[in-house]
Amino acid sequence: MALYSDKVMDHFLQPRNVGVIEDADGVGEVGNAKCGDIMKMYLKIDDDIITDVKFETFGCASAIASSSMATELIKGQPVEDALKLTNKAVAEALDGLPDYKMHCSVLAEEAIQKALEDYKSKQENTSQN
Ligand code: FES
Repeated sequence: MALYSDKVMDHFLQPRNVGVIEDADGVGEVGNAKCGDIMKMYLKIDDDIITDVKFETFGCASAIASSSMATELIKGQPVEDALKLTNKAVAEALDGLPDYKMHCSVLAEEAIQKALEDYKSKQENTSQN
């Protein structure tokens, strides 16, 4: 059996939503201290709906495929649903990752959570002013 599913290979070779959103409403950056890989997510949010999402990942094939799939899963979704996205759901959408590569999908979950936290804290600041 091939190590990676066709979907992992597809999202690794042709990642969706790569790039930067200059005026993002939420940005989240996370890293894995063990492998040194870094993932950054940018969210554009209108009326609590994620209208655009881009990512930059300096990492392994699984991390790139996970970020790409995660952006596809949350694009167009309400913030509340994106908050519930788990790394398991990302890995399942990719038709699985090898066990020792599951931690790569955790980066995608964490980067999205962090970007959403950033969005929420910016909103609180605006409402206080
Ligand atoms: Fe570092 Fe995959 S080996 S995220």
